[in-house]
Amino acid sequence: MDKKSGQRPCTKKGRVLPLLGVFLSFMLTVLFTGLIPTSNAQPGPGYGRQKNITPAKDERELVSMPEGVMQVLRQDMRSHLTSIDQILSHLAEGDLDMAAEIAESEMGRGSMGKHRGTGMGPGRYMPSDMHDIGFGMHQAASNFAEIAKKKGELKGIYAALQEVTSHCVACHLSYRIR
Ligand code: HEC
Repeated sequence: MDKKSGQRPCTKKGRVLPLLGVFLSFMLTVLFTGLIPTSNAQPGPGYGRQKNITPAKDERELVSMPEGVMQVLRQDMRSHLTSIDQILSHLAEGDLDMAAEIAESEMGRGSMGKHRGTGMGPGRYMPSDMHDIGFGMHQAASNFAEIAKKKGELKGIYAALQEVTSHCVACHLSYRIR
């Protein structure tokens, strides 16, 4: 405070005051347009990076399951990803029957329960909301298969496939196992 008023030239008021006004309005302009850094930041390794880039807090719910079951789940997942890739590839070739076949056999309702009796099925470790998303994915895959087999408009077929992937996304955004 004192420094500022100490710096203010107070002699020859007639000449200095108009200059001071110009200087002040210049300073206000640059301050408000952000041209003057308000901190003492120096150009350096982090310079120019956007502010607020901090790793997002992981708010997914941790679902615990035995190590072996985790492996089964992750293997199923990699197989789902492969299936989606194959389905897209068949769609691109116009082979709707093959796209339907893979969806139903690999991800549809018919693919459920393949770990039954092994004690390694991940389903029973899932909280009920997670389980519902998983069930919804199987249903969406079967629904896609039915729609693809009818060979209607591609738009509807892609929409049905996206209904499947939206379940992948919903679950991944909410849950983790490690
Ligand atoms: C009901 C929940 C759920 C659904 C639905 C789901 N996933 Fe997953 N997925 C998970 C969980 C949980 C993990 C493990 C995350 C972790 O490592 O903590 C996972 C992991 C994966 C992984 C990584 C596997 C690895 O080796 O670590 C892939 C790839 C994957 N999912 C693909 C898919 C695809 C594709 C779909 C949809 C067709 C899908 N998932 C649907 C829950 C789900």
